[in-house]
Amino acid sequence: MQIGNYYIFTYGCQMNVHESEKLAGILEERGYVHCEKPEDADVLVYNTCCIREGAEQRAVGNIGNAKPIKKKNPNLIVAVCGCMTQQKNVANNLKKKFPFINIVFGANNVEFFGEYLDLFLKQRKYQNKILEDKNYQSNTRSVNIVRDDKYSAYVNITYGCNNFCTYCIVPYVRGREISRPAEEIYKEVKDLIEIGHYKIITLLGQNVNSYGNDLKDNKVTFPKLLEHIANFDGDFEIRFMSSHPKDLSDELIDVIARNKKISKAIHLPVQSGSNNVLKLMNRNYTREKYLDIIKKMKEKIPNLSLSTDIIVGFVGETEQDFQDTVNLIKEVKFSNAYIFMYSKRKGTVAEKMEGHLPLEVKRERIHKLLEIQKEITNNHFVNLIGTIQENVFVEDEKQTFYLGKTQCGKVVKIKKDKQLDSGSFYSVKITDYSGGNLYGEAL
Ligand code: 5AD
Ligand code: SF4
Repeated sequence: MQIGNYYIFTYGCQMNVHESEKLAGILEERGYVHCEKPEDADVLVYNTCCIREGAEQRAVGNIGNAKPIKKKNPNLIVAVCGCMTQQKNVANNLKKKFPFINIVFGANNVEFFGEYLDLFLKQRKYQNKILEDKNYQSNTRSVNIVRDDKYSAYVNITYGCNNFCTYCIVPYVRGREISRPAEEIYKEVKDLIEIGHYKIITLLGQNVNSYGNDLKDNKVTFPKLLEHIANFDGDFEIRFMSSHPKDLSDELIDVIARNKKISKAIHLPVQSGSNNVLKLMNRNYTREKYLDIIKKMKEKIPNLSLSTDIIVGFVGETEQDFQDTVNLIKEVKFSNAYIFMYSKRKGTVAEKMEGHLPLEVKRERIHKLLEIQKEITNNHFVNLIGTIQENVFVEDEKQTFYLGKTQCGKVVKIKKDKQLDSGSFYSVKITDYSGGNLYGEAL
């Protein structure tokens, strides 16, 4: 029975996107139905992020927009959760700023949202369910998941993070790393494949390469887990994110190289090309080690497509350090780089370091780097002309072309000279690159 509508705002990474799928599952189990516009909702959920200041500002601005909706619909329930609320005092401050908020909870007790909602409906009073224990993980409890995409599905393999990069707030809000038992992961993936329409399975963790380190007597490392899944029957592709270079083993490179079902689009955040900065960031690898991993991957993995994350303007970054990053991206030639300006986060080690850079310097550097990467990205796709791309996924049939996506997520408009099925993989010869799109013919 439908008892109302719900709408979820999601900010941040894939982990959050997936957690919103769990929130949706919990709401649908209780009879709520997804609506297209927040104005039509009876339950509004804000699943927030705090990775950078900008992410927080966006969420706070949007929560403010709930006020007129609540005015029109006094029964509207407003819930705020996610990484932002898990920080010290944030929930209390939000409640002061937006008294209409009814429920707050954190990033580590998403699976209990149903109970909090029931409590609110029963008592009709504000529920603050932020858990003091940041290491608490409610994910051992399985909940209904309403997946966003017909073809692509996320599967958690680890929660939390043990790395403590000095700029990053994630270890503070998401707690210590916990791996899911391998059997549980295998079952979820098998069930998804059996459903039939899920063709792209993405394994999620803050650092997938350290999978299993926390499990007692565990023999399943990340490469073993990945290869075991790649050996399942069925027509699917397996991806993973994110990888930390310090834990990326030769074994993993070999597993990726020899398994057709593992995506050759690898995201490997480098953060900086300068050894000084990498040290200050507590990344635990050097520029040389990173470049060595890239060299090995390029040698062993055909059709490799590399992407990365970079932070510019980190505390103490000199012009020479920045040049080291410029040189690194020119050398590696990533197909894509997500470039961010360093954002000071409360409670992190970097917050207290000396030598924070002025905004103008950070801005200037990000613009320079974005320009350089734009050209590299463009050249990367021009160089694909004439190549054969494996595992291009056909998502849709349009009037004049099939809409395909390469392993790295780039759109390919495929000629309609053959009958292709949506929801299947094809090998495609790339014939052109223009207007930001690849063009190709299925083989
Ligand atoms: N400032 C800017 N970027 C950050 N990231 C993480 N923390 C910060 C911060 N304080 C970036 C990193 C990470 C990506 C998810 O976000 O590049 O890989
Ligand atoms: Fe945002 Fe990071 Fe939390 Fe993901 S883990 S939601 S990116 S703060």
